[in-house]
Amino acid sequence: MRFPDDFRWGAATSAYQIEGAAKEDGRGASIWDTFSHTPGRTRNGDTGDVAADHYHRWANDLDLMKDLGLRSYRFSISWPRVQADGTGKANQRGLDFYRRLVDGLHERGIEPMATLFHWDLPQALQDVGGWENRDVAYRFADYAAAVFEALGTAVPDWLTINEPKTVVQNGYLGGHHAPGLRDPDAAYLVAHHLQLAHGLAVRALRAESDARIGPALNLHPCYPADDRPETATATRLYDGYENRLYLDSILRGAYPQDVLDDLGPRSRMVRGIRDGDLAVISSPVDLLAVQYYTPYYVTTGGDTEKRWPTSEAFWQQIFPEGMFDLLTRITRDYGPIPLTITENGLPCPDELGADGAVSDPGRIEFLRDHFAAAHRAIEAGVPLESYHVWSLMDNFEWAEGYDQRWGLVYVDYPTQRRILKRSAHWYRGVIKDNTV
Ligand code: FCB
Repeated sequence: MRFPDDFRWGAATSAYQIEGAAKEDGRGASIWDTFSHTPGRTRNGDTGDVAADHYHRWANDLDLMKDLGLRSYRFSISWPRVQADGTGKANQRGLDFYRRLVDGLHERGIEPMATLFHWDLPQALQDVGGWENRDVAYRFADYAAAVFEALGTAVPDWLTINEPKTVVQNGYLGGHHAPGLRDPDAAYLVAHHLQLAHGLAVRALRAESDARIGPALNLHPCYPADDRPETATATRLYDGYENRLYLDSILRGAYPQDVLDDLGPRSRMVRGIRDGDLAVISSPVDLLAVQYYTPYYVTTGGDTEKRWPTSEAFWQQIFPEGMFDLLTRITRDYGPIPLTITENGLPCPDELGADGAVSDPGRIEFLRDHFAAAHRAIEAGVPLESYHVWSLMDNFEWAEGYDQRWGLVYVDYPTQRRILKRSAHWYRGVIKDNTV
């Protein structure tokens, strides 16, 4: 299976998960610093204080990317590096780090794709209510404007907010991600403010450069667990909360009515929607970044059940066909907007062998099957431009700390040595041949 000539193979990371240097060069604290330093919140009490030390090893990491032949690298910018407290004048030293990174990518022939927000909200903004506070969306737009002013023309593709749904579900429903709340009424108000922030950032970019911009959404194909009509109804609503709550608003300018009805007119979200908000949220975007890991099978009662093998990530089911279904559905329902896959991957029990190699056959099989599904989607007419494996290297996997290894590159944390896993060698071949 040969991919289109201009197809861009890449890999993805995020700031808090790899950078470390938590207190350097004027960086302020984020909600993930607070959360990970709170006893009991992360596995083994792991924090991102040092992580993969990418803040100091960035040049070496860029060389690794070049060695792999990556054509695109998706990373995120740390808001508290740029504005320690989330407001006011930008911290030049923080911006300089990303300038060096972006220039270093160009020097190596790798296209930068930058995410403005991958969950590391400045703690000072959490202290005034975080995403429950509508004003934080406007603070985000100011931050975005400062970043665009500094880097706008050097970065061809921007992503606004990484997985708003995960902030909603893990940060405010399950509480196992920062800020660690369990408050459903707050959660959906947060969903609205995150999307408002997205739309405001899109508008801020238009004022600054002609680069492209879009949202980064984790989407889940939802299938009924049986063929009863009530199960179809439950699946439709489940899909509303998982997918249409973000897709319909951003791409069609209206929240899905079934979800609004389910939340009810007294919910904080429905009361929090102001005139003109949907126009901002649906400001035209240039691309849609899709992150796919797992499908859902929905039961009559609106729960989910497992059908396929899982991984070290308890929430994952390995189902490559879901990639095809998801991509073709987006194109069918929302039109031919350019798509990029910005995350897809698998955690494996990787170990550094006595021979110095890291053998991860499960990851190779996983990626091969998902690449093949993406290829079929392209053949079916989906305008998919690029594919970023999660992740370039092992990193701080949020509440799971360093236990789960998602990288193509193994990180030996005590020495910070990087070792290409077998999957990385295999991926280099895929990229070189542009073929799976
Ligand atoms: C996604 C996150 C990413 C990483 C992967 C495994 O939800 O965006 O940071 O944690 O899952």
